[in-house]
Amino acid sequence: MVHAKIIGTGSYLPKKVLTNFDLEKMVDTSDEWIRERTGIRERRIADKQEAASDLALMASKEALKAAGIKPKELDLILVATVSPDMILPSTACILQHKLGIKNIPAFDINAACSGFIYALSVADSFIRSGVYSRVLVVGAEVLSRITDWKDRTTCVLLGDGAGAVVLEKTKGKRGILSVNIYADGSMWDLLHVPAGGSRMPATKETVQKRLHFIKMRGNETFKVAVRTLERLVVDTLKENGVKPDELSLLIPHQANHRIIAATAKRLGLGLDRVMLTLDRHGNTSAASIPLALDEAVRTGRIKEGDYILLEAFGGGLTWGSALIKW
Ligand SMILES: CC(C)(COP(=O)(O)OP(=O)(O)OC[C@H]1O[C@@H](n2cnc3c(N)ncnc32)[C@H](O)[C@@H]1OP(=O)(O)O)[C@@H](O)C(=O)NCCC(=O)NCCS
Repeated sequence: MVHAKIIGTGSYLPKKVLTNFDLEKMVDTSDEWIRERTGIRERRIADKQEAASDLALMASKEALKAAGIKPKELDLILVATVSPDMILPSTACILQHKLGIKNIPAFDINAACSGFIYALSVADSFIRSGVYSRVLVVGAEVLSRITDWKDRTTCVLLGDGAGAVVLEKTKGKRGILSVNIYADGSMWDLLHVPAGGSRMPATKETVQKRLHFIKMRGNETFKVAVRTLERLVVDTLKENGVKPDELSLLIPHQANHRIIAATAKRLGLGLDRVMLTLDRHGNTSAASIPLALDEAVRTGRIKEGDYILLEAFGGGLTWGSALIKW
């Protein structure tokens, strides 16, 4: 049986740290409210010169180094992002150029916070079908550029960062066992950026009305996220014949500690079997899972043969999971 196996991980976080106390000086909020309602203490903010492809490049170089392969050995580059360098061309093409390679396909995937799982699913399909053997999958976000720093309901949640993995074809029993992705467009307006696309191109008015920033109906999104993720993780394990107590680590998208805790509880998992980076990274959308995965690998929390479950939920609405035997 051919599988896609993760052979290297990498990540990058911008240097600048923005704490809840810094935010107290910017909007009407408090460290206590942010910690209690979300679990976030601080997040990273990209430097003025840094765009998504710059963060992606740093994470990719680390993942390639860990995998022990050179950029020219790749067959495909996928970048999951909702904060691309620019609308045209894709951040994946810019990343390909920065990696010093040509001719292999490169494209972006926009599935908001589920973007990394979506990209993993595309990479997995290409590998299992025999089309490609080595794929670079990156989640990279500079959300701070599309965040309304006057809107306390969203600005306290988001952060910047990037994570990357290199996937390789393997004939063994280890690797990605299954990836499931889903969407429900009827709730597209729960989480969106109204202007800057073909529906509402940029004008002086759209800028004045702050329509180029992320708008979220947080409470409604929260409820759908909890319901959906609780079902998703149970179904994913059942489908693969894996019992919750066989799971070594849950690596969830890092949006809200209460959502993560509810999902873990549904599986009967203690938080010691859940990867948490939310307190230090905030919600980095498509970057959050590969960032957490890289930290798990580098801190020795994953061993050969472990079952690892990744899950995400985000704008679209989109959601998805991946079960890996490491
Ligand atoms: C955003 C979120 C943390 C808000 O928590 P919540 O418990 O739902 O809070 P509500 O939105 O109901 O707001 C409760 C109150 O806190 C206030 N509030 C909102 N943001 C605040 C802030 N940063 N500081 C202080 N008070 C704040 C609200 O105005 C509201 O006040 P009111 O009761 O006087 O109207 C939570 O809804 C969430 O995490 N949502 C989902 C995020 C997510 O998963 N997104 C998709 C994947 S990325």
